[in-house]
Amino acid sequence: MTGDGVKRRLAASLRKLIGIIVIGIVAAIALGVGVAFWRDGTEIVVGADSLNAEQLALGAMVYTENCASCHGADLEGQPNWQIPLPTGGFPAPPHDETGHTWHHPDEMLFRYTKLGASEALDLDIFETNMPAFRDTLSDKEIWASLAFIKSRWPETIRERQEQINQRNK
Ligand code: HEC
Repeated sequence: MTGDGVKRRLAASLRKLIGIIVIGIVAAIALGVGVAFWRDGTEIVVGADSLNAEQLALGAMVYTENCASCHGADLEGQPNWQIPLPTGGFPAPPHDETGHTWHHPDEMLFRYTKLGASEALDLDIFETNMPAFRDTLSDKEIWASLAFIKSRWPETIRERQEQINQRNK
């Protein structure tokens, strides 16, 4: 074989190798992008993120349509919410910082909203005026309504509730 022939074959092998490397890199990038999309698209929403604009937009809508009639358009609750009603149970408490909501971890608030008070607290005798939303709202909508509620708390209250979340883990 001539020197030129060897060079040509070497050059051809080199081109092949570069080709394989380029294909490899392109495939790796495509896989990375694909996985990112897949994770984003299929990720189940768990958690109430008071800084997530998308979740808050949904949450504000869910809250207005499903919670405001009792808990108040401004989260102020019903008057005398700590005094039992003659008809049984209690009026709806505020969800703002004057209420009790922020004393509970997210997980409990979610269960309370989804299952209703008796099942969430495991108390059969508990008389409650708080409806269970398991048949009317998706988990995603429930978490969003809670994110909205949390977003209305002052920073210090949000921090304190986050500590309660951490302790609850
Ligand atoms: C028909 C009135 C009514 C509606 C509508 C309603 N609630 Fe309530 N909610 C109550 C009452 C009353 C309580 C007080 C506890 C009880 O009686 O079970 C309560 C309690 C709660 C609590 C517990 C608060 C605490 O401090 O322990 C959470 C959380 C809550 N509601 C979330 C929601 C969310 C979120 C929605 C909308 C998706 C909603 N509620 C809609 C009446 C209502």
